Amino acid sequence: MTQPPPTPDFYEYPWDPVDSVAIDDRFVIVAWADRTELRAFDLWLQENALSYAGFDLATREHLIDPADLDDDLRVVSATVRADGALDVAFSDGGPAATYHPGWLRHVAEGNFRSTSWLPEQVSWTADSLHISVHDGATILDDESVFHAWLTDLVSLGLGRLENCPLDEDFVVSLVSRIGAIRDTNFGLAWDVRADIEMAGSDDTNSTANTNLRLGPHTDLPTRETPPGYQFLHCLRNEARGGNSTMADGAAIVAALQAEHPEHYEALTTLNWVFFNRGPGIDHRWTGPFIDLGVDGSPLTLRAFYPVRAFPDMDPSDMPRAYAAMAHFSQMAASDRFEVSTPFRPGDLVGFDNRRILHGRDSFSSGGHRHLRGTYIDHDEIYSSMRVANRRRATHS
Ligand SMILES: [Fe+2]
Repeated sequence: MTQPPPTPDFYEYPWDPVDSVAIDDRFVIVAWADRTELRAFDLWLQENALSYAGFDLATREHLIDPADLDDDLRVVSATVRADGALDVAFSDGGPAATYHPGWLRHVAEGNFRSTSWLPEQVSWTADSLHISVHDGATILDDESVFHAWLTDLVSLGLGRLENCPLDEDFVVSLVSRIGAIRDTNFGLAWDVRADIEMAGSDDTNSTANTNLRLGPHTDLPTRETPPGYQFLHCLRNEARGGNSTMADGAAIVAALQAEHPEHYEALTTLNWVFFNRGPGIDHRWTGPFIDLGVDGSPLTLRAFYPVRAFPDMDPSDMPRAYAAMAHFSQMAASDRFEVSTPFRPGDLVGFDNRRILHGRDSFSSGGHRHLRGTYIDHDEIYSSMRVANRRRATHS
């Protein structure tokens, strides 16, 4: 074999020779010895043919404008080369196209989907949660620590670190390694800081900056797409109390559906308006408390009472909407679902902000407490996880 045919991406594929090929109307049927089969459509094959300028070698992105697709184009021959690659010739007499058999195989196996190369979601309750605490002192240098933490973030929706440097920039450095940080009106990174003597004063800009309890919630349901992940790094904590609480919304939604279908129906269908208000700020979004999105979307819980402003539903639906929401919130704060963890300086927790309900116990004794936080979108986490998992698969 000479150089493998370029693929429309930047991955290396194992060489998995095609065994046989046939043409069936507009499809090329590619088969491997273990009977794995791919039905490849003619125009899709053209879009992935370098010889037809279907994609660009530098960017590996597709080049054919759909307006230029020739609906009369047909495959006139499809053959397996001696080395197992696929050769295809088209009816317009253009140059034959050669396809990497390993790349075709990954399509046949469905490993092109957005869910591919990501760990399975593992739902958890207070009793079933088994989570490792990874070493924040080495995470920026040790790829295996970073990978293990990222895997927890995707599968459990929750990843914990300890021994992180007590450096105000650390959380940004760490999250920037995953991808682009999600900016908001709170800034790229923000402080949750409560100096007990100032709690409740005019200097606070959100309930977070007080010493009050924060019930289970998700941040910024006021946005069309609330931030996918949130990270909180504890830099200082001299206060007593103020444990961080977490509950898996995916597990609560599943339990609610099974045990109280009437509440599940109300929370997935009745809309509320969420509203971030401030001088010069008016962020609003309308949606259900439990937003299932389209098939395959990540779960989005819109659960933050400080910004839940208006029921946007028929008045006759309001009693059941409130009853369902109260029940959900009681479940989220119950011993069945909620875990409680103290924040020590150097601890850093990351969690899926749309799936995991986070909160905080009140703290009432004197002392300073300083967390620094930031957000990132799901896309960045998933991209980083796919690249890491594909690299590991290639090198193993
Ligand atoms: Fe929050």
